[in-house]
Amino acid sequence: MNTQLLIDTAKKMVAQDKGLLAMDESNPTCDKRFAKLGIPQTVEARRAYRELIITTPGLGESISGVILYDETIRQQKKDGKLFLKILADSGIIPGIKVDTGAKSLAAHLGEKMTEGLDGLRERLAEYFEMGARFAKWRAVITIGDGLPSRSGLEANAHALARYATLCQEVGLVPIVEPEVVMDGDHSLETCLKVTEEVLRNVFIQLNCQRVFLEGVILKPNMVLPGLSCPPHEEVKEVGAGEQQYQVRLKDRQPDEAPDVDEVADTTVNCLLRTVPAAVPGIAFLSGGQSAALASARLNAMNVRFKSRLPWALSFSFARAIQQPALEIWRGQEANVKAAQEALLHRARCNRAARRGEYTAAMEKIGS
Ligand code: 13P
Repeated sequence: MNTQLLIDTAKKMVAQDKGLLAMDESNPTCDKRFAKLGIPQTVEARRAYRELIITTPGLGESISGVILYDETIRQQKKDGKLFLKILADSGIIPGIKVDTGAKSLAAHLGEKMTEGLDGLRERLAEYFEMGARFAKWRAVITIGDGLPSRSGLEANAHALARYATLCQEVGLVPIVEPEVVMDGDHSLETCLKVTEEVLRNVFIQLNCQRVFLEGVILKPNMVLPGLSCPPHEEVKEVGAGEQQYQVRLKDRQPDEAPDVDEVADTTVNCLLRTVPAAVPGIAFLSGGQSAALASARLNAMNVRFKSRLPWALSFSFARAIQQPALEIWRGQEANVKAAQEALLHRARCNRAARRGEYTAAMEKIGS
């Protein structure tokens, strides 16, 4: 294993207050997002959209690396220039999503298991040869009655660790992404308990599989209440068997969401309890938060904690960087420039958030 290459790549991924742009939606997910906006769901439309993203002037000032999908890593600009060459010219490191998706976990109603380990060693070697220097694997953890189960957590953590060692063997930095999804009516407190348990399991498995922690980037969810969390106090039980938690929701006023600082404190405390100091960087997913809230929450974490954290707190957003641009583009060539400006704006807001310099005023100026 080339540990120096892994250390260097992981450091570059979080250097200079830059972050990652996830543009690795699978074809079905990308098509679903296109369909909502009336964009044709074709190879050419997906290619044109990805061309728009990676040719955005100045993107490399805020983005250190992009996560590509198998279709995209092989594509070219209309003039024939390979996307990989364009990225190299902009100083952006190419990464690649290598899981093959989350499927229903047998005998675990409501839980998912991420697949893609079969043939992974060969696929990773090909991606490294093409120029990729990091990879991504996403595990999906759902909170619900009796969920997540211990066996579901362990199976997903084990697969993440198997993937991570295979990546490191060929020289790719693994982004380890265990996502506790926002769907559900769980509270912030429940999300905290579950996220802590997920991360503990993940690092136990990474250690068991001899993953080199200095060459890993963790991509977790922020700790947030579920999208349909009720405002009143109630006792909920989540998890099964030994892993059952009883969680009392905080007494909140109707419609009172946790404020930005509470999310920042809860998230960072969760990470401090679970993520070893050897890990160089934590790059959050956005998970369906609005673009502005994702920036504000990342900013609050860096304002309140940056000087005393062992790892960089960064971003690896898909929707929270891309969505405004996609809504402007809508498949129309005439909208490309405006969409690129919106994309660049979100990338800059998130770089500012890494420095603790993001303000709501940046949204009004739109620059
Ligand atoms: P979102 O930021 O839209 O959650 O996507 C991040 C990602 O890469 C999901 O795997």
